[in-house]
Amino acid sequence: MKVLVIGGGAREHALCRSLSLDPDVTALHCAPGNAGIAGVAELHPVDALDGAAVAALATGLQADLVVVGPEAPLVAGVADAVRAAGIACFGPSREAAQLEGSKAFAKEVMASANVPTARSYVCTTPEEIDEALDAFGAPYVVKDDGLAAGKGVVVTGDLEKAREHALACERVVIEEYLDGPEVSLFAITDGETVLPLQPAQDFKRALDDDEGPNTGGMGAYSPLPWADPKLVDEVMATVLQPTVDELRRRGTPFAGLLYAGLAITSRGVRVIEFNARFGDPETQVVLARLKTPLASVLLNAARGTLDIEPPLNWHDDAAVTVVIASHNYPDTPRTGDPIEGLDAVAEQDSPYAYVLHAGTRQESDEIVSAGGRVLSVTATGANLTQARERAYAAVGRIRLDGSQHRTDIARKAAEG
Ligand code: AMP
Ligand code: GLY
Repeated sequence: MKVLVIGGGAREHALCRSLSLDPDVTALHCAPGNAGIAGVAELHPVDALDGAAVAALATGLQADLVVVGPEAPLVAGVADAVRAAGIACFGPSREAAQLEGSKAFAKEVMASANVPTARSYVCTTPEEIDEALDAFGAPYVVKDDGLAAGKGVVVTGDLEKAREHALACERVVIEEYLDGPEVSLFAITDGETVLPLQPAQDFKRALDDDEGPNTGGMGAYSPLPWADPKLVDEVMATVLQPTVDELRRRGTPFAGLLYAGLAITSRGVRVIEFNARFGDPETQVVLARLKTPLASVLLNAARGTLDIEPPLNWHDDAAVTVVIASHNYPDTPRTGDPIEGLDAVAEQDSPYAYVLHAGTRQESDEIVSAGGRVLSVTATGANLTQARERAYAAVGRIRLDGSQHRTDIARKAAEG
């Protein structure tokens, strides 16, 4: 099978790494990729938001399967363009990707499907905004309706800050505050059959102890030793299958990766958000634990034949990933700094720990930073304690001037 992966972050590096280890995959391409993905896939330049360009590249490469990583191309209809060219594509249509592209749409789908989520109002005027903020009280949760690359959500006890953010949005969702730990649960679906993956937890704040600004995600781990063993079954029954069924009923079936961001509240599981693609950095730890070869599962999801796939198999190992980010991330990051120590990790920590690249670029014989999140250092171990030790040992070998990382990824879970 010839596979083309669209995107160039650590999630795509994790996908390419898994696909490169799959005996079914005879050729692996990635566009645009990054300096690390170049080690496992052939890179091609492409504007990932340009459906016609992606379809032409896939046709030229005679790809059997295209996997679209990030949300922006999905919302722009890239998967539709690939399918229109007669090539199987793992990733939802433009219309189904609205589950991530519009928070108001997601809320409407959840209401129709009886999926448990925070109560909310969709507001467009200052009067509606004030009424909604007043109705829920503090802490205020204010969400820009559209895609905002992780910057659209403000959770604050400060009424003025909440109002200011809401007024700056064209359309805004204001909702009830959900208390309790967060879980990311992914499912692969062809629009009808749903195959859940293993849950993971993401660390969204920039600094230790969940201080500092929200980011795209600073680390993750899996499994969740503290979670109810029935969690996956419960979320399948109350969230994933009903949502997939509802989108099919509407004539906009969702085929691809359905990501449920969940809060485990005292009153039960509630959906915080849906995403229409693999999460980053959770994918790095979930795929590290997946035993089933990935390519045929993704192909069957893309073709509408996921029902022939048996349940997924998992390693008993735990996995931890720690993100190394640029100076000043999540504000405008400094880029172009050389990265050292990658060879040392490959020599001393492989195969238990390895580096997945996010924002990196090859510059003559150097690899330099090229984005906010630069590397995702991933490790497996017999338990979370060992996986953490291995991940942080590898992090310690890497030098990137001004870089930052959290030191507490999976610490609480490892300590029980
Ligand atoms: P989102 O982009 O919807 O994932 O929101 C980003 C982060 O904001 C989430 O990971 C939560 O930590 C927080 N958040 C979102 N919605 C709520 C809510 N209703 N109650 C509490 N925290 C929330
Ligand atoms: N880890 C959060 C996300 O991928 O949106």
